Amino acid sequence: MAVTPNLPLLLLATSLLLAAAPLPSAAEKFVVGDKKNWAPNVNYTTWPDQYHFHVGDWLQFNYAKGMYDVVQVANQTAYDKCDPSNPLVSYDRGRGFVFQLNYTGRYYFICSRGYCWSGMKVTVLVE
Ligand SMILES: *[C@@H]1O[C@H](CO)[C@@H](O)[C@H](O)[C@H]1NC(C)=O
Ligand SMILES: *[C@@H]1O[C@H](CO)[C@@H](O)[C@H](O)[C@H]1NC(C)=O
Ligand SMILES: *[C@@H]1O[C@H](CO)[C@@H](O)[C@H](O)[C@H]1NC(C)=O
Repeated sequence: MAVTPNLPLLLLATSLLLAAAPLPSAAEKFVVGDKKNWAPNVNYTTWPDQYHFHVGDWLQFNYAKGMYDVVQVANQTAYDKCDPSNPLVSYDRGRGFVFQLNYTGRYYFICSRGYCWSGMKVTVLVE
């Protein structure tokens, strides 16, 4: 007797395989600066190197409201010059503020209150 493929069983096996396929990983939240948080006199140059950022992930900025802020600037030029004059967005929400990385590309954040010059700026690349 010829072995005929059992169609319902094949379909079941296929759907089980599809269900087992890896799902896109869940969004992650990264505390900028880790334990040092978002503060003056912290050098954030290498902080992003230890992570991979994806669309949907969050950056959490913990800082003293009223003293510091988070300004997203357009490009490397504004970032290098610590120039907040044409911000994409500017936030003054304080501890626990979260920013969602919702597109791919590079993001530039600085503190607009003079502390950028002491290193209070960070840039991340979202893949
Ligand atoms: C950088 O962004 C500023 C606005 O903040 C804009 O005036 C300038 O032309 C941009 N420079 C480059 C090189 O894209
Ligand atoms: C993308 O993120 C920014 C900042 O968190 C938010 O203001 C904006 O509404 C988001 N856009 C979408 C489409 O989710
Ligand atoms: C931060 O560290 C980088 C190299 O690790 C250095 O090039 C840069 O000048 C430092 N920035 C400040 C503000 O000290």
